[in-house]
Amino acid sequence: MITQEDFFKKLIAHSKEYGFIFQSSEIYDGLSAVYDYGQNGVELKNNIKEYWWKSMTQMNENIVGIDSAIFMHPTIWKASGHVDAFNDPLIDNKDSKKRYRADVLIEDYLAKIEDKINKEVEKAEKRFGETFDKAQFVSTNQRVLENQEKIDAVKKRFVDDLETNNLDDLKQLIIDCEIVCPVSGTRNWTDVRQFNLMFSTQMGSVSEDANTIYLRPETAQGIFVNYLNVQKTGRMKIPFGIAQIGKAFRNEIVARQFIFRMREFEQMEMQFFVRPGEELKWFEHWKQARLKWHKALGIDAKHYRFHDHDKLAHYANAACDIEFQFPFGFKELEGIHSRTDFDLKRHQEFAGKKIQYFDPELNENYVPYVVETSVGLDRTFLAIISNAFTEEKLEDGSERVVMKLPAVLAPYKVAVLPLMNKDGMPEMARKIFDNLKYDFKCQIEEKDAIGKRYRRQDAIGTPFCITIDHQTLEDNTVTIRYRDTMQQERISVNDVNKIIQDKVSLKNLFKN
Ligand code: GAP
Repeated sequence: MITQEDFFKKLIAHSKEYGFIFQSSEIYDGLSAVYDYGQNGVELKNNIKEYWWKSMTQMNENIVGIDSAIFMHPTIWKASGHVDAFNDPLIDNKDSKKRYRADVLIEDYLAKIEDKINKEVEKAEKRFGETFDKAQFVSTNQRVLENQEKIDAVKKRFVDDLETNNLDDLKQLIIDCEIVCPVSGTRNWTDVRQFNLMFSTQMGSVSEDANTIYLRPETAQGIFVNYLNVQKTGRMKIPFGIAQIGKAFRNEIVARQFIFRMREFEQMEMQFFVRPGEELKWFEHWKQARLKWHKALGIDAKHYRFHDHDKLAHYANAACDIEFQFPFGFKELEGIHSRTDFDLKRHQEFAGKKIQYFDPELNENYVPYVVETSVGLDRTFLAIISNAFTEEKLEDGSERVVMKLPAVLAPYKVAVLPLMNKDGMPEMARKIFDNLKYDFKCQIEEKDAIGKRYRRQDAIGTPFCITIDHQTLEDNTVTIRYRDTMQQERISVNDVNKIIQDKVSLKNLFKN
């Protein structure tokens, strides 16, 4: 059995070998936690964007999109609270000189205890079989109860420390939990310090005053500051949403796990503006709608779960993550927040401009409440490729690596392959390719034995291969090979387009 760690290493190597993801500035030995998307990666990424964008702005008549600038007035980040509070609590181990996020150390510790509970439950489930009553077991088993008590106590203290910014006790908690540095194995910790995650730069000439600006750490503020523009010019009526896809930048200190935590990444965010008092209803709606969006890709539902926040950000009155089971465990993929009227009110205050909505049904003005859905594009990419990456042993004893990507997202939908490089087959292949390319991203490949070409297409996740052989020239039929089953069928050239269209259309995904 391959370990999750080995699986992840293989996935990273495969991503590079097949042009999905490269380390940034690799020929200069790389830039940490920054990645480039290669020729196949960019196609997959664009397809994910399209799926999200259309699901928001085309499938919902009351959601429109914008594309705001990365540079924004610096006061925006004062108003949003990022200048003062967009911090991570950091701690160093004095022996290994390694730096960690104090909150992550504690969360990992809690996850380990949770694992112990899960293992206890699994064991009992096996022992008792169908008669097993999980609820009764977790409420009576001594070891489970002790571990749960430990979790509750640490969680409570942890949340209190974060809420009151009690960094001394946060350090003490790490010591009390006997958390050791994974590298040195010691508990020789420094004090915990807060570290702001925003990158700053200079705009204009250096001699100008107040010219420090920030690279946006989230796209959401570009939506908030354009609320009035969009509402007025689009004559939008509440409830309505504004969607945006764009880059965000965070000086992540503990940057690891490939494209899971990057310093430059992309977010797909949607702010849904609602009547005050209706936000929790919409919060529930978007929680379910977003989970459905992920599951529609056909990834096993058991890889997703909701995680309600223990500690609410100062601006939120409800918050939940959709977590995905990455190769390194369940981690946040998307955040859904009920952000109240915090952001709009703060911009109203800092900009000195009224940001309100006149509700004709209620005949009153108010600052709208906001429900936000915010999903990392790169994390969605990682979730999809880690689910797709499959190593298979075939009946003839050989092996293949196949990316079982959802067909609708695959970089190439179809590869056109002349069986031989002679007898009119390449010309026929070109004719078919020239016809298909108007509808699909296709590849035409003439070199190497057909088996080798199939493997190459499997490795980048092409769902269909069309092979042109002698018979094609006689009766205008080709074989279509299905990536996942490797089965082949003989079909008329005239049917190729429709068969592929059915499988790769966003329309079918939305309708289902
Ligand atoms: N506007 C709300 C917001 O930015 P967040 O939970 O900080 O909330 C939202 O970020 C999503 O952005 C996360 O769920 C994650 O998918 C993605 N994300 C955040 N930081 C990231 C990073 N350093 N690298 C990659 N993705 C990141």
